[in-house]
Amino acid sequence: YRNLRIALLGAGSVGAQVASLLLEHGAELSERVGAGLELVGVAVRDLDAPRSAEIPPHLLTTDARSLILGADIVIELMGGLEPAREYLELALNSGADVITANKALLATYGPELFEIAEQVGAQLYYEAAVGGAIPIIRPLRDSLAGDRVLRILGIVNGTTNYILDRMDTEGDSLEEVLADAQRLGYAEADPTADVEGYDAAQKAAILASLAFHTTVPLEAVYREGILAITTEQVAAARKAGFVVKLLAVCERVVDPESGVEGVSARVHPALVPIDHPLAAVHGANNAVFLEAEAAGSLMFYGAGAGGMQTASAVLGDVVSAARRHVIGGPGVAESTQANLPVLPISSVRTRY
Ligand code: HSE
Repeated sequence: YRNLRIALLGAGSVGAQVASLLLEHGAELSERVGAGLELVGVAVRDLDAPRSAEIPPHLLTTDARSLILGADIVIELMGGLEPAREYLELALNSGADVITANKALLATYGPELFEIAEQVGAQLYYEAAVGGAIPIIRPLRDSLAGDRVLRILGIVNGTTNYILDRMDTEGDSLEEVLADAQRLGYAEADPTADVEGYDAAQKAAILASLAFHTTVPLEAVYREGILAITTEQVAAARKAGFVVKLLAVCERVVDPESGVEGVSARVHPALVPIDHPLAAVHGANNAVFLEAEAAGSLMFYGAGAGGMQTASAVLGDVVSAARRHVIGGPGVAESTQANLPVLPISSVRTRY
C-alpha cells in the first residue's frame, strides 16, 4: 500500500509529542488509514535544543524547505507568523495537505491560505488551533453546517483559566499562578499573549469566522485581558454567586443604530453565574458553549492546552489528511482496524 510522507515543522511542546506519538503509533494509524504514515523529518531551528520528548537525531534537520518539497502532508507547529506563512504557502503550492495549530497565523493570514489551498486543490486542517484536544473545528465546519449558530461563549485560553481558577479556589495571586502555568507548559512562549487576551482573541476570530460563515479579522475582535483582576474581586464575585472567567463571546447581533444584522466578537473577563456549565470549567481546561437555532445549547469541553493533549488534535488531522490521500483505498469511510475483540456483556462495568 501507498506510503504517505509526513514532514513536521517545529519540535516544541506540541511538535515533540506529535513526533513521538507518530513514531510510537504509526503502524496502528497506518492500518486505520489504509496507507503507510512515515515521518520523514522534523525541521528545527537548533539541532541541539532540549526537547520534551526524544526525537531520533537522524530525523532532525534545519532545512525546512527541502523537507517540505518532499512531503505529502506538512504539519506546522513552529508558531509565529514568519517563516510559518512562507512555509505553508510553499507546502500548499507543492500540492501537500497542511496541518497547523498556529492560531496567530490563521487569524492573520487565514483567508489568503484558504484561497491558495482552494486554487491548488489542497486541504488546510487546524483542529489543534482552538481548544487544544477538544474537537470544535470539525463540529462547527461539518456537524453544525446545516444549522444557524447564534452565539458562542468560549473559555479558550487554558493559562488564564488556570490562573483565575486558582485565584478563586486557593486565593493565590495572579503572579504566583502564572509562574506555575508556564512551568506546566500551558502558557505561550510569551505569556503576554495569554494574560492580555491576544491568544483568546485569535481563537475568537477563528471560531466566529467558521460559525458565521464569514471572515472576522483579528482587528475586529475587542480584547481585554486579566491583568487588572485582583484576588479580592474574584472572592467578591464568588460571594455574589459568580465566577470570573475570561470569555470569548462571538454572536449574531443587530446593530441598534443601523438595524444591520452582523457578527460581534470580543474577549474580556466576565461574571459567569455559578450554576452555568462554564463555571465548572477548572484548571487549564477549555470549553465552548454554543447556541444554535435548531440544535439548542451544546458544550464542548476538555484539555485546552498541553503538548500531549494538543498533539491528539494534530494526529486526528493527520488521519483525516491521510484518508483524503487514499480515497478509494481502505479506511476512507471507517476504521479498518477490527482486530479488537468485543467482550461479553458480563465483563462490562456498568457503574462509573
Ligand atoms: N497558551 C495557550 C493556552 C495554549 O493557555 O490556552 C493553547 O493554545
